[in-house]
Amino acid sequence: MDIEEVNTILEKYKNKTEMVINALQDIQDRLYYLPEEVLKKVSEKLNVPLSRVYSIATFYNAFSLVPKGKNQIKICLGTTCYVRGGEGIMKTLEEHLKIKSGETTEDKKFSIETVHCLGCCSIAPIIMVNKGAHGRLREETISDILKKYQ
Ligand code: FES
Repeated sequence: MDIEEVNTILEKYKNKTEMVINALQDIQDRLYYLPEEVLKKVSEKLNVPLSRVYSIATFYNAFSLVPKGKNQIKICLGTTCYVRGGEGIMKTLEEHLKIKSGETTEDKKFSIETVHCLGCCSIAPIIMVNKGAHGRLREETISDILKKYQ
């Protein structure tokens, strides 16, 4: 996606000062993150101070200012997941994808982040890939799960 595509997305939000979140969401859905130059464009097009755009982009967890993969993996290392093997799951994920938690693969297909309790401890250990939960995980099933998202 180039800046022209961002401009096209932003055309429908021109001067709609109350639609910052919607505009950021549309762009995040396409780019998987919000580069600084895009925040400036949103500020200009919607006629909203850059400081406000920036504060919204940093307030909501749905937005990221750093590049993310097309498939975003959240691995839970909350207490229940941890004691049921979450750390081994994380190591296996990192080995398969050749990245550490907080990083994105070179091909931008995957990123990993660590979270603390996804609220479904009964199926621990668990990862979320995008909006899909994978529970009662075993290290040997990670490879098959990742293949589904290739
Ligand atoms: S500790 Fe992992 S879902 Fe609760």
